Amino acid sequence: MKQILKRILVFVLFLFIAIQLYQPAFNIDKGKAVTKDFTRVYNMPAEVQTLFRNSCYDCHSNTTDYAWYDYIQPARALVENHIKDAKDDLNFSEWETYSNRKQVRLLNSIKEQIVNRQMPLSSYTLMHRKAKLSDGEIKIMTEWLKEQSKVYE
Ligand code: HEC
Repeated sequence: MKQILKRILVFVLFLFIAIQLYQPAFNIDKGKAVTKDFTRVYNMPAEVQTLFRNSCYDCHSNTTDYAWYDYIQPARALVENHIKDAKDDLNFSEWETYSNRKQVRLLNSIKEQIVNRQMPLSSYTLMHRKAKLSDGEIKIMTEWLKEQSKVYE
């Protein structure tokens, strides 16, 4: 019995090491092309900028601030998947390249996601406590978003 348990343990350990070999590309923009960024396109108060950067940019931009556990599989693959899905829908680093129509749609969608507390994802804020938005922070963001929608009218 002990022998079998030992073998299982060795096998699990081997599997854990083997999956570490899978290393998808990191989401880090070395060119630092920031001019198309959401926070540059608008005249945005520093406070609002910080909120977006802290709560959304790890998934919705070209540069993720990785935590130590993000380097370990299987977290590594999960995180890269989230980033890919998130950027397909909304990439703050590419904001200026979006049409006016898309920007208006996204501004509304962002407001809705924040107000309904669907974003940032709860699986993410569980590990990143600082990214969790308080009622006051949600108010600051939604009021700023409301003002921006008027720019397009
Ligand atoms: C942990 C990663 C993560 C974080 C952090 C995160 N999101 Fe997302 N977001 C996603 C993923 C993944 C999707 C795609 C969801 C889907 O396809 O079901 C998404 C989708 C969205 C969408 C839908 C886009 C559309 O097409 O309408 C909006 C808007 C959005 N996120 C806004 C935000 C905002 C604003 C923040 C910060 C307050 C944020 N997200 C933080 C992962 C994240």
